[in-house]
Amino acid sequence: MVCEGNKKSYLKSQNLKIIGRSSLRGEVKISGAKNSALVLLAASLLTDEKIKLDNVPLLTDIEKMCNILKNLGVKLQTKDHQLIIDSTNISIKELPYELVNGLRASFFCIGALLTRFGEASIPLPGGCNIGKRPINEHISGLKALGAEIIIEKEIVKAKLAENKNRLHGSNIRLNCPSVGATETLIMAASLAQGRTVIENAAREPEIQDLCQMLNKMGAKIYDSGKEKIIIDGVQDLHGCSHKVIPDRIEAGTFLIAAAATSSSITVSPVIPNHLEAVLNKLEESGSKITTKGNSISIRGNNIKAVNIETAPFPGFPTDLQAPFMALMTIAKGRSTISETIFENRMNHVELLNQMGSSITVENNVARINGVKKLKGMTLAGADLRSSAALIIAALISRRVSHIYGLEHLDRGYENFELKLSQLGAQIKRETNRKINSHSYYEGNKLAKDSLAKIKVA
Ligand code: UD1
Repeated sequence: MVCEGNKKSYLKSQNLKIIGRSSLRGEVKISGAKNSALVLLAASLLTDEKIKLDNVPLLTDIEKMCNILKNLGVKLQTKDHQLIIDSTNISIKELPYELVNGLRASFFCIGALLTRFGEASIPLPGGCNIGKRPINEHISGLKALGAEIIIEKEIVKAKLAENKNRLHGSNIRLNCPSVGATETLIMAASLAQGRTVIENAAREPEIQDLCQMLNKMGAKIYDSGKEKIIIDGVQDLHGCSHKVIPDRIEAGTFLIAAAATSSSITVSPVIPNHLEAVLNKLEESGSKITTKGNSISIRGNNIKAVNIETAPFPGFPTDLQAPFMALMTIAKGRSTISETIFENRMNHVELLNQMGSSITVENNVARINGVKKLKGMTLAGADLRSSAALIIAALISRRVSHIYGLEHLDRGYENFELKLSQLGAQIKRETNRKINSHSYYEGNKLAKDSLAKIKVA
């Protein structure tokens, strides 16, 4: 996994050529969860012993996180989907803006670095294409654990209070159940002195995965997956082996693609209860779902309009809002999709409308009038999940589509087009070297604007 400097611009010249209207059939293997792997990599900074991670997805976001760890002096050995992480010789230094910019999750290293080394300096992650994404919950939680934090020239500088050699346990109540803040604080509290209680904690499966790995490393974390997490700080953490959980968002995206193309597919391995809210909505919209062990099968049929509202886990995940909207474009009837987590996560609406859908948006509520068909287009996704939504729309469409924005897609979907083509989709990655991405997007205002501010979700 090597991150090439100009990879992003190279990826911008790539597109997926999709000939729509074919149906999908067969079984698709789901990769390890991106959001788990990212935080587990940050957690590996908590020990000077080796961590062996299996089922790590091969994604550009993971490459970026690996580069951040390498910059700190971490040694990484990679083999297929396995990573061996050795943080014995870390030099604590400010993380460079160029590495942190473009990967918001890199900020989650702050809790691990601070609690293990007593200091950490990380540039502010900033907003991104889907919203402002503040870090106030991370900061106030770390302060409650005894950190002194200043923000100077866009750099967050955290250190232990004078005369202290460890953070101390505390009772923290989050104002919103932020996934990243919950993870930052769990990592920081794992080596703090005494007991920390986090209330209104996020309950996402990736947080449970983090706690499982930390407990294998010797941490004492109780009740992960509940609203109140208890952490008894320990002196040291040690090495361990851990397998990343399957990616529920990737699995959900394939299931939605199958529903949208009236297809029958099976996704595995998955943990079905991680997808309960999504499966309920797919069933309500006409698909037949069968779960068996670690696999889920779907048979898409007569798509009916259903309403969804995104919510923290176990609610409907914001990360599947855009793909589900692509499905609703051709549903029978009118549906409403409300985005309650991020303030700017409807980038796909204008693009789907260009493909023939009928959607209006007001205050983050999209009202969708189902249409009979979509038409193939050349378009660019403006963020990770909106790229997936456009690909699903292209699979439904008549005629050929060329979907750009693969620099977003490759952040979060491993071999997406290969997996789709193995299911029978007519999809192929093309590189159009003549394309200068900026001039190419002339006429597509939304995509052109989004290119200028490409950052990550
Ligand atoms: C994580 C996921 C992302 C997912 C999101 C919500 C990773 C790497 N990314 O992002 O894929 O879409 O959870 O499920 O795991 N907030 C604050 N103050 C804070 C932190 C967050 O107000 O200090 C707000 C955000 O603006 C947002 C909401 O809380 O409106 C949820 O954000 P959060 O759960 O923190 O998302 P991330 O952890 O960044």
